[in-house]
Amino acid sequence: MATKLTQDELKKMVGYKAVDDHVKSGMVVGLGTGSTAYFAVERVGQKLASGELKDIVAIPTSIRTKEQAESLNIPLVTLDTHSRLDVAIDGADLVDPALNLVKGGGGALFREKIVEASADKFIVIVDQSKIVDALGPAFPLPIECLPFCIEHTMRNLEALPAMQGAKAVLRRGSSANNKVDGEEIAISDNNCYLVDMHFDEPIKDPVALADQINKVVGTVEHGLFVGMTTSVIIAGEDGITVKDA
Ligand code: 5RP
Repeated sequence: MATKLTQDELKKMVGYKAVDDHVKSGMVVGLGTGSTAYFAVERVGQKLASGELKDIVAIPTSIRTKEQAESLNIPLVTLDTHSRLDVAIDGADLVDPALNLVKGGGGALFREKIVEASADKFIVIVDQSKIVDALGPAFPLPIECLPFCIEHTMRNLEALPAMQGAKAVLRRGSSANNKVDGEEIAISDNNCYLVDMHFDEPIKDPVALADQINKVVGTVEHGLFVGMTTSVIIAGEDGITVKDA
C-alpha cells in the first residue's frame, strides 16, 4: 500500500523540481521565503556544493533566507548591484485560477515583491492546499504598513470599495511569521507592521484591490501578486503538476 506523503515531503518535491528545471549555471537567482522555499534554497546549496551548478549569485527575500543561504555558502548579491534576475522561486499562501497570488504569511512580502518583480521568470511552488477558486476567505491578505498612525491606516484600508468590508487585524507575535502567537506587535524585516485583511467572501477584483491599496498613504506593500507568475509547480497526492501563465 502506498504511504501518504507528508506536507514537508510535498514541499521538498516542488522546491527541488523548481531548481532542477529552472536554475542553470551563471544565473542570478531570487530565493523566496517560507517552509516551501526553504527546500529550493537547500537544493541550490546542494548543487553548488557538488559542482553541478557554477557561478550562481542569489538575492534572498528575507533575513532568514539570507541566513540559510549563507549557511550553505550560496554567494549573495543585492538588487543594487543586480537589477535583473534570471529566475525567482518562492512559495505562496493562495493561488487562483489566473495564477494571481496572496503572499506574505511569513511577513516577507515587500522584499519578495521587489525581488520577484525584477525576475525574468517567477516560479511559484506550492502544495495542493494553496490552490483556490478565488483569493480571499481561505487566507488573510497581508499588508506591510509604516507604524506611524497605524490605526488610521487600518481604517483607510477597511474603507476601500474593493476591500468588500474585510476586517483589518494587526499581526502580533514574536516574529513577523503569523504562525507564532504573542502579545507584541510583529515587526517585519523592514521595521514595519503587518496588517492582515480578513475576507468573508472571495475577492471580486484583485487588480482593482491592488490598485486601491497602492494609493493608501502609510502602506509599504501588499501581498497581492497579480500578473507576476510565470509558472506554478503544485505537489499533490497524485504527483506534481505544472500550470503556466
Ligand atoms: C512569506 C511568504 C511565503 O511564501 C508564504 O507564506 C508561503 O509559505 P509556506 O511555504 O511556508 O507555506 O509569502 O512571506
